[in-house]
This record gives sequence, C-alpha cells and structure tokens, in this order.
Amino acid sequence: MRKRASAAQAPELPEAGRLEAIRAPLLAWYDRQRRDLPWRRTKDPYAIWLSEVMLQQTQVATVIPYWERFLARFPTVEALASAPLDDVLAAWRGLGYYSRARNLHRAAQEVVARFEGRLPSSAEQLLTLPGFGRYTAGAVASIAFGEQEPLVDGNVARVLSRLFEVEGAPGDRAREARLWELAGALVQGERPGDLNQALMEHGATVCRPESPLCLLCPVRGACMALRHGRVDELPPAKVRAEPKRLTLALAVWPHEDTLLFARRAEKGLFGGLWELPATEVEPDMPDATAATRLSEALGVAVTAKGALGTVQRQLTHRALTLRLLRVAGPQRPSRAPAFHELRWCTPAQAEGLGMSTAMQRALDAALEAGVLGG
Ligand code: ADE
Repeated sequence: MRKRASAAQAPELPEAGRLEAIRAPLLAWYDRQRRDLPWRRTKDPYAIWLSEVMLQQTQVATVIPYWERFLARFPTVEALASAPLDDVLAAWRGLGYYSRARNLHRAAQEVVARFEGRLPSSAEQLLTLPGFGRYTAGAVASIAFGEQEPLVDGNVARVLSRLFEVEGAPGDRAREARLWELAGALVQGERPGDLNQALMEHGATVCRPESPLCLLCPVRGACMALRHGRVDELPPAKVRAEPKRLTLALAVWPHEDTLLFARRAEKGLFGGLWELPATEVEPDMPDATAATRLSEALGVAVTAKGALGTVQRQLTHRALTLRLLRVAGPQRPSRAPAFHELRWCTPAQAEGLGMSTAMQRALDAALEAGVLGG
C-alpha cells in the first residue's frame, strides 16, 4: 500500500482496489438491508423521477402517500403535462417547496414536446429540463436507466466525507467538487442505480449525522475517519444563516358563505399558490395601516374590522408571522394588481386550491374565529 501524505486532501482518485473494497460490501449490504420502498418496485422512469423530486426536501415516510396519490392522479408524463398547474399544486399541498411541483409540471410539458413523452436517459439531456440539477439528473439516469452517473446529496456527502476523510464544510466549493469526483469514481461498475441508492440508504440509516452505527457498518474497514477517530467531526456542521423574519398581513374578507382568496404570481415565496390575500407589513404596524397596504394590493379600499390572531410558521429560511385581519370594503374585487387571480370560495371549495401549509393554518384559524358565522 502506498502511504498517503497525512490527512491533507488527496487530489488523486482512490485506486481501483480501494473503490472495490467499498462497492462490493456496500452493494451486498444494500441487498440485505434495503428498505422496501414503493418506488423501488417500479421501473417506470417517470415514477422514479417523481420519487426523487419529492425526496429531495421531504422525509421518506411523508413522501410515500404523496407519491402514491400523485401517481394515481397523474399516472403518466402526458397526464401530468396536460393537467392544469392548479391541480398539480393541489396534489403537492402540504409537501412544501412548491417550486418543485411547478418545475415538474413544466418539465413534463417539455418531455412531451421535445422527447415524445419519454424521459431522456442521459444525465446531460436530463439537465436541460426544468428542475433538474446535478442530483436529480444523476438519480434518474442511474436508477431509472442504469447509467454510470454519480449523485451527491446530504447523506452521500456525509458518507464520502467519512470514508475518504474529505475536509471542508458543506457549501465549500473544493469540497463539493471532491465529493462529486469520488462519487463519480465509485459509481463506475455494475448496478450504478443500486450503488447510488446504497450510499444514500447507508447515510440515512447507518452513517447517520449523530451517533453513527459504526459497529454495524459494512464498510468500516475502509473508513479513514474511523481509522483516525474523526467520525464525529466529519463532516463539520453547516453554518446556517438566521432565518429572515417576515410578517404578512392577511385579508380575511367574508361575503355570505365565502372568503376572498388570491393566487400569487409564479415567482418567489409560495409562488403560484393560493392564499388569503397577503401583503408584507412591518411587525408592529397598526391594523389600520396594514389595511391600507392590503387596499393597495387588492386595488380597492378595505378597512380593518378587527384582528383575528396570528399564526407563526418556521420555514427553512424564513420565520413567518401571519397576521389575520378581518376586512371589509364597499366594492368587492374580482381581480387585483398584486395577484394573478382572485376567487370568492367557500371553505369546501378552498380545499381544492393549492395552498401552503402556513396558509392552511391561517385559514383554519380564521374559520375557528367564526368569520363565516357557524
Ligand atoms: N433519498 C432520495 N432518494 C433516495 C433513494 N432512491 N434511496 C434512498 N434514499 C434516497
């Protein structure tokens, strides 16, 4: 064995023997231990693509019922491509990160227009579709099409950081490049899709961030971090920016048995989703001033008829405060400058609108406050 120069990052790739000493036991472990997940029982590239998009920011247990319902509703790329965006967003309701759903929808339309409804198999072509980054392209190419394409997600990054003692914090460019290079070397060989899934599975269940199960690890013999007693310090924790505070005033405008709902423009936070018409306000702004802001957004004068409480919601990058304000005005709008679309809906009709979880909570709070009588 050639001796490595201390813990300094080795720019060259590991030798074939070392790669095989990881690949073989990892694949054998995966064959024994893999979780029985519904998207592992299908070969349909569209269904696999959908699972990878959903899994990017959402836990497996949450994804399973969404994935099943979504496929029942939109069973093919063509079905998804021809569905109205609103229906797609409604099916995504509660999963969060709604740009995933908008991109999925647009990508399905491109797959129909450019590839006769069949996803291309190469990562290079997949990368030309909306919403496909390096991860999704690698996942679909390898899992659905058996291409020797790497992928790196948070789990894989942790596994590789430990196995190969890769220095640097998450987000560090040189570190990311090194991780992709290592993943690219490891995936060369048989069963690339299984190898990639084995790496992810291993990170999720054994090589965990806290209390990793090194005693049960199938590749412990090849782990540099274990050998050097550095498992707990690799990878270093990500330095997260404080979430920005964002306060929105929400117009709760009852009319008979309906409330006013608005659909946001496509871009930005909650883009394309429905809401109780909302506008940004300063946290301590008086109700009357907040009502003026809402008047501007709605394009008609409304006055504040009382505060209905607040809903707090923590997103990854935002600390959201939703202030519910009952409003009324002499003229009921049917369109508005700040929104794509307005609709007066009963709570039952609102069920069918694509709404974020934050907004759903706000709506529940307004209804509980009795704005519609009963
Ligand atoms: N996380 C995202 N996709 C995954 C997959 N296919 N297997 C295991 N974990 C995953």
